[in-house]
Amino acid sequence: MSRVLIIGAGGVGRVVTHKCAQLPTVFSDIWLASRTVSKCEQIANEIGGGRIKTTQVDADNVAELVALIRRVEPRMIINVALPYQDLTIMDACLACGIDYLDTANYEPEDEAKFEYRWQWDYQERFRKAGITALLGSGFDPGVTNVFTAYALKHHFDQIDTIDILDCNAGDHGYPFATNFNPEINIREVTANGRYYENGQWLETQPMSVSRLFNFPEIGPRKMFLLYHEEMESLARHIPGVKRMRFWMTFGDSYLKHLEVFQNIGLDSIEPVEFQGQQIVPLQFLKALLPDPATLGPRTKGKTNIGCIIKGSKGGESLSRYLYNVSDHESCYRETHAQGVSYTTGVPAMIGAKMMLEGKWKKPGVWNMEQFDPDPFMDDLNRYGLPWHDITCDIDIDTLPHE
Ligand SMILES: NC(=O)c1ccc[n+]([C@@H]2O[C@H](COP(=O)([O-])OP(=O)(O)OC[C@H]3O[C@@H](n4cnc5c(N)ncnc54)[C@H](OP(=O)(O)O)[C@@H]3O)[C@@H](O)[C@H]2O)c1
Repeated sequence: MSRVLIIGAGGVGRVVTHKCAQLPTVFSDIWLASRTVSKCEQIANEIGGGRIKTTQVDADNVAELVALIRRVEPRMIINVALPYQDLTIMDACLACGIDYLDTANYEPEDEAKFEYRWQWDYQERFRKAGITALLGSGFDPGVTNVFTAYALKHHFDQIDTIDILDCNAGDHGYPFATNFNPEINIREVTANGRYYENGQWLETQPMSVSRLFNFPEIGPRKMFLLYHEEMESLARHIPGVKRMRFWMTFGDSYLKHLEVFQNIGLDSIEPVEFQGQQIVPLQFLKALLPDPATLGPRTKGKTNIGCIIKGSKGGESLSRYLYNVSDHESCYRETHAQGVSYTTGVPAMIGAKMMLEGKWKKPGVWNMEQFDPDPFMDDLNRYGLPWHDITCDIDIDTLPHE
């Protein structure tokens, strides 16, 4: 009996719930809880057959979470609410002695600063309690960490550089919308860029470094250097890595709107007084923007996310490119969600499957690259995210900026 409790009924929650429901031998019993119970009910109705039980929870409240876990008695929690809830949910898992998985690292709500320190601090407590926390089981972080671990296991003695390339070439027809939670998305892309070189983190101005890259099955797209959380754990766990960078593509319309929002302060998380009320500009902007969960039926085109990894084996230099291409419309047909939610929700389901099957089960707090990548890679091919692993002689530094 493998009962799971999924928390968060947004775009990613929808995909995880659909994918878990497709595997009744692994996920025999599925509960979906979120702040707004009607969103859980909508997903449960899509799946039908009484497979999904739903309930309301405020995941900021540890006592409420503990009461819910005691009532439902799941083996583990799949946390696909927001990064703000990571620590309260981890506290509740500790109190009840059950396993934990998420897709994004903790970030305090009042400070746009995400890092693993807060969650790595739970290592000893999880180890002593004999329970497992798997951090960052989405695509990036998540599959990108597993691609790196797979490359290290099968191709390299030594990895020197990792470039993570995230291209969403989907078109939803809106002048501006974000493909996942707008607050989290805008906080991420307006932060300074940061990359890792020779043991140091080097900062760049937001969106100031770009390259034109020809993405397989998509074509040339302009990508920008950003900071992304998987580099923090890879810097710790991939021995001797010298440089790591993360690149994400943005269209001209997205960038133009973002610049205006920044110029007038709509991306700010500092509360302002408006008609006698305190409001956070970014939360107000979120209320105006299209809900990412509604983009599914409108989005056409593909995503391509992968890693270009360079290093050596037996003294010979080599370079590999591991990537997945997903099609927004096929993702929607299968799960009623667009490709960005799909590429996050499928690895969350697979991570949970690894834990329930005992393949990735070890007391403590772990990142994806710390486990054997092979069973996870097999399941990516099996459950909707087939990957390519090719030789690659592209030197990103010599690519044009435009
Ligand atoms: N690793 C990756 O590749 C990757 C990629 C994309 C996203 N992500 C992560 O995936 C997670 C989900 O993203 P998403 O796009 O699905 O976001 P979303 O559409 O905004 O969904 C978040 C859900 O969490 C619920 N929620 C928020 N606060 C809650 C609380 N205090 N208690 C209970 N439920 C709460 C929301 O409820 P309401 O609907 O009531 O507001 C919403 O249903 C985020 O952490 C995001 O950072 C990871």
